[in-house]
Amino acid sequence: MQDLLYLPVQNVLFNDLFDWTDVKQKCQQTTAVINTKGLKATSNKSGSLVECNEEQIALFRHGQKVYAVKEKCPHAGGPLHLGDIEELADGSLCVKCPWHSWKFDLESGEVKFPEGHAKMAVTYKVQVKDNGQILIGFEKFSEKYFQMDNDF
Ligand code: FES
Repeated sequence: MQDLLYLPVQNVLFNDLFDWTDVKQKCQQTTAVINTKGLKATSNKSGSLVECNEEQIALFRHGQKVYAVKEKCPHAGGPLHLGDIEELADGSLCVKCPWHSWKFDLESGEVKFPEGHAKMAVTYKVQVKDNGQILIGFEKFSEKYFQMDNDF
């Protein structure tokens, strides 16, 4: 198994994430800072959209565990951080895309509904430090870091 490169999420800590297992929290609004450029967004019963390693990633908290999935739905590009979390009968935890209700396994990225689709959501391993810092695992640094552009 390949070692992953764990990069920190900026401006969002574990306790900022909406907890899908917390019934009380489901009745309240929560606010999360969403990216490294200082933009903020209100999240209410949703995941948090963050930017890490030049990727837009949706984070979901379920109890003490955090799941990370690429923001762009592989079906038609819907915003997965606005999806609901559902536990299926087989025990898998899925995010349901808000656009056409496809369900993706948060561990494997596999399409659980509708059946028979080979497309996969991109999922990432996540670590949470004792201080609440969230780290997302990547196979390598984004190629975008090494591209020459007009910023120089
Ligand atoms: S865009 Fe996500 S299910 Fe269609």
